[in-house]
Amino acid sequence: MPARLLVTGGAGFIGANFVHHWLARHPDDRVVVVDALTYAGNLGSLEGVRTHPGFRFVHADIREQQTIEGLLADERLDTVVHFAAESHVDRSIAGPDPFIDVNIGGTHSLLKAVRAVWLEGTGEGAECRFHHVSTDEVYGSLGPDDPPFTETTPFAPNSPYAASKAGADHLVRAYHHTYGLPTSVSNCSNNYGPYHFPEKLIPLCIVNLLLGRELPVYGDGLQVRDWLHVEDHCRGIESILDRGRSGATYNIGGNCERSNLEVVQAICHHVDHLFAGRESLGQRFPDCPAATGEPCADRITMVRDRPGHDRRYAIDAALISAELGYEPGVEFDAGLSATIGWYLEHEAWWRAVMDDSYRSWIDGWYEK
Ligand code: NAD
Ligand code: DAU
Repeated sequence: MPARLLVTGGAGFIGANFVHHWLARHPDDRVVVVDALTYAGNLGSLEGVRTHPGFRFVHADIREQQTIEGLLADERLDTVVHFAAESHVDRSIAGPDPFIDVNIGGTHSLLKAVRAVWLEGTGEGAECRFHHVSTDEVYGSLGPDDPPFTETTPFAPNSPYAASKAGADHLVRAYHHTYGLPTSVSNCSNNYGPYHFPEKLIPLCIVNLLLGRELPVYGDGLQVRDWLHVEDHCRGIESILDRGRSGATYNIGGNCERSNLEVVQAICHHVDHLFAGRESLGQRFPDCPAATGEPCADRITMVRDRPGHDRRYAIDAALISAELGYEPGVEFDAGLSATIGWYLEHEAWWRAVMDDSYRSWIDGWYEK
């Protein structure tokens, strides 16, 4: 029987990629997106599925419990894939309140809604699943020689963002344990790919280069992240919904540790190479250093470090591999090159999302 999904935060980066992925792979399913369209949510990211017969968009906040209950019941939804969150660590440092309200309060509100409809309403809860999309940041920071995070690594969140995601993970666990709600959680590493809001490192550097701006690297730039192409993340979530155990947590990672400086240098290298081979790019983006043959890496600027900056994340993804047969497939260099290509082809998308609130945030954030 076709599945009937509620996707929260489906107008954001990973949520939109997931909706595209899911409807391409499961064209007969119902996919209802609920999104509050904060600065990070863009309907333009869902343009490709707008006319799909199984797709519906609802402009609502996950904290509107009655609205969510109504949707779950009226649409007979059997699966929640919960992406909606405040997601940017720097913003959580500047102002933690919305992170606590949305990531903890919003997740709890959703859990109350599914409990009411699935467990106390139709009684069809056993066939349902609430999946929480979480982060590797709940595990804290690794030293250079520490083994990667496993699903049993104790939580040690260091930023208000990470603490709010850890709180949400605990609530999902408690609703499974106490009320028997069928749940799953994935803790994933850093994603990159299409529709990524240009406040995050990779899209920020791509867009800044095209506009001739500096590339801000925090501290010494030797912090390490484990990069995963967003399409691989979507496949990982799909494998959990398909075959994952109820009540389980799965780590998802890319087996791809890179320092931030390495990532920024790789972006510079790709952009230099692309512009050298296509004169038309220099005409479209005359402020990009590569348009005049200047090495893009000359624009790397070391700036003040992020307070409490986690040094290293790395994921041990042995569990999802052994239990569900899931492996990431996109090699980093190829994925990064394709991502830069996507930003070159979707200038209208990134220009549209860089509105006044974007500019006031980016311009005011870091100090040299
Ligand atoms: P994003 O910031 O790009 O998108 C978040 C979406 O949630 C936006 O569309 C926004 O409008 C929506 N939203 C925010 N508050 C809402 C509310 N109260 N009600 C309804 N919608 C609301 O985030 P993302 O990078 O796509 O991340 C999605 C999820 O994946 C988050 O839960 C994040 O913690 C998690 N995650 C992200 C990464 C990553 O690398 N980006 C890695 C691991 C986990
Ligand atoms: O690890 C998963 C997490 O990855 C997700 O849970 C978060 O939602 C997502 O935003 C991301 O968090 P990070 O803080 O790792 O991502 P960000 O792109 O903000 O930063 C990546 C690294 O680059 C980090 O070490 C900080 C650094 N950085 C970031 C920016 C924006 C810079 O050096 N300069 C920058 O301008």
